[in-house]
Amino acid sequence: MAEIEVVLGDITKQKVDAVVNAANTGMLGGGGVDGAIHRAAGKLLLEECLKVPDGPKGRCPTGEARITGAGALPCKYVIHTAGPVYHGGKSGEKELLSSCYRNCLLLAQEHGVTSIAFPNISTGVYGYPKESAAETAVATVIETLKKAPAVRKVIFTCFDSENYALYEKAVR
Ligand code: APR
Repeated sequence: MAEIEVVLGDITKQKVDAVVNAANTGMLGGGGVDGAIHRAAGKLLLEECLKVPDGPKGRCPTGEARITGAGALPCKYVIHTAGPVYHGGKSGEKELLSSCYRNCLLLAQEHGVTSIAFPNISTGVYGYPKESAAETAVATVIETLKKAPAVRKVIFTCFDSENYALYEKAVR
């Protein structure tokens, strides 16, 4: 079983093979963790994002994941995923959030990623309630790790103490 860790800190400082970006479907960069990752990675990252084929639902449709290089970040890859915007929980948000975590890990497996850091996807600008997001994130990661044997370490990188406490509880 892979090691699962919960840390309070900046995802751009994590020394892992891949960091996950809570992106938007256009992969155009933004605020929050998306802004922090693009700032730390440099403009090369945006150039790579723009090369990802665009489609009717954007470069990275909600719930899916796309992988790029990491520019100046201390890791090999950035795995971008677009979380659901929370509209009350009755329009499939839970399944879409779960898909984000699952697809990021399956993509990590495909690229031989051995260590990966996740932010708390959708719990910022996209307004997803933190407690249920933490439960969905941890349950999906534990389930998907069975199909991603290459991944030996998962770090849930929380940026605030509320998320940190929720992830600690969910992992326990
Ligand atoms: N390291 C780790 N976590 C961070 C960092 C950071 N440097 N900066 C912010 N966060 C946390 C936020 O505190 C929040 O808990 O990441 C979590 C996700 O929040 P957002 O970044 O707002 O992402 P999300 O809610 O998924 O909304 C995505 O916001 O920035 C735009 O382009 C992005 O449109 C997309 C939307």
